[in-house]
Amino acid sequence: MKRLMLALMTVGLLFTGVAHSHNEELYPGGHGGVESLRGITELDTTRPADEFKHYPRDQGVIESDYVYQPPLIPHTVRNYEVSLNANKCLSCHSWKNAKESGATKISVTHYQTREGQVLSDVSPRRYFCQQCHVPQADAKPLVGNDFKRVEALRNE
Ligand code: HEC
Ligand code: HEC
Repeated sequence: MKRLMLALMTVGLLFTGVAHSHNEELYPGGHGGVESLRGITELDTTRPADEFKHYPRDQGVIESDYVYQPPLIPHTVRNYEVSLNANKCLSCHSWKNAKESGATKISVTHYQTREGQVLSDVSPRRYFCQQCHVPQADAKPLVGNDFKRVEALRNE
């Protein structure tokens, strides 16, 4: 009886061993075989960060592809603080400072509340500029698409 039990247990162990190594082959590491656009990284490894995109100092503003698109930022924003204490962007783009800095002033929508009420200062929902505006860079699209600019904004 004892022998039979032992034999059964050995066979069981053998099987789990096989199943295990089979799984390892299919999905090496701890990511369960899931690959994202960032590639495959095991859960317990820290993946090196991507290189920073290059933002040229001088470049034309890429035109909008649709109406009401937040324009891209044509300049570098390195070390520009936007926090409770300071908003570097507004030091050039606010209505008060725009003329002197030569920057486009923020449009009136940036002073409106969600209900359309116009405030005397930037609306809290437009305070964190980079929620909507991103610096423009020559970045390759991660996924292909055949989006076409709306008719009204086409040049040809
Ligand atoms: C030192 C002044 C300065 C600061 C600070 C600054 N900008 Fe600008 N920004 C400019 C100037 C000048 C232009 C116009 C450049 C051009 O047209 O080539 C511009 C252009 C832009 C545009 C394009 C506007 C358009 O007409 O399409 C956006 C969007 C923008 N900035 C966003 C930001 C954001 C967001 C920040 C903060 C992270 C910021 N800027 C900080 C000076 C500044
Ligand atoms: C919730 C999204 C959002 C936030 C936050 C936001 N913007 Fe905008 N911004 C837009 C959109 C959308 C437009 C284009 C339509 C418009 O003018 O409202 C725009 C337009 C602009 C323009 C071009 C204005 C023009 O007349 O062509 C500038 C400059 C700008 N934003 C700067 C800023 C700055 C600086 C901040 C931070 C203080 C900021 N934006 C925060 C969405 C946003």
